[in-house]
Amino acid sequence: MKAIGVLTSGGDAPGMNAAIRAVVRSAIYYGYKVYGIEKGYKGLLDEEIVEMDLSSVGDIIQRGGTILKSSRSEEFKTEQGREKAVEILEKYGIENLVVIGGDGSFHGANLLSKLGVSTIGIPGTIDNDLAYTDYTIGFDTAVNTILDAISKIRDTSSSHDRVNIVEVMGRNCGDLALYAGLAGGAESIVVPEIEIKTEEIVKRFRTTQKRGKKHSIIVLAEGATGIKGGARELKDALAEEDNADVRITVLGHVQRGGAPSSADRVLASKLGNKAVELIIEGKSARAVGVKDNKVIEMDIEEALSLKKEFDEEIYEMAKVLSI
Ligand code: F6P
Repeated sequence: MKAIGVLTSGGDAPGMNAAIRAVVRSAIYYGYKVYGIEKGYKGLLDEEIVEMDLSSVGDIIQRGGTILKSSRSEEFKTEQGREKAVEILEKYGIENLVVIGGDGSFHGANLLSKLGVSTIGIPGTIDNDLAYTDYTIGFDTAVNTILDAISKIRDTSSSHDRVNIVEVMGRNCGDLALYAGLAGGAESIVVPEIEIKTEEIVKRFRTTQKRGKKHSIIVLAEGATGIKGGARELKDALAEEDNADVRITVLGHVQRGGAPSSADRVLASKLGNKAVELIIEGKSARAVGVKDNKVIEMDIEEALSLKKEFDEEIYEMAKVLSI
């Protein structure tokens, strides 16, 4: 019987379980044997491999995290490590590997495909930093988690007439900050793609104060480079201003957990199913994603070579709406 292996790698993201479920159920439906590889590429090298059946993925569509666990592996980054991985996959008869993760995980899948393993990448990361797809699994849920936090912070910010800086994740991608900032009505959104200096935020604060705004929310992406000292630098600069009582909230890993949103569950189900369809068609080294609401597939190397474009139109619009 032909076998498919599935693993989750890198930072976990809500909806990964829904993707695992879709891969396992579709694969079994089409007559494949399925192995779950635990702890990503590290677990592959440690042979943490278990056969999965229909019930292994029962009751997981609503759960955050990943039942297969995730990690980052140094050994897999070496040629020797990858050769060992191929030997282990051969031992289990796993000819096809589905990798759910971000760019680092896709890079690993691409290298494995060059060693003869048929690989398919499913984008799973809260960062939404893969250029070839409009959305990655986990992004929508993380935006909603941030939004929930912003709304709560807004309540207390308003009660105390404060400036609240909310630092969000995303590495070098500002999408989490942009979408949550827009939806949360933030006064300022600071992203890595558009360099803003501290003075500019201070100037904006003065303008809004003059206009009678008593409190404000600043959403700051962790990767923003214009403000070298991060939230602390911003806080110190703003604290010099009259009437500025500033607080910082670093949301951290709360953004990575929680039940996946319906959008993430639907996306994960579609992409997991598509990955198996591609395997049936005999395709390898492909990345599945979504463009203009349609499921797409692309050469994984090409997908990795595309440069993510920041949506400046939305950014500018958010600025207009927050005057
Ligand atoms: O890539 C997902 C992500 O949550 C980033 O937004 C963040 O910078 C990073 O992972 C945090 O990594 P770790 O969980 O290893 O601290």
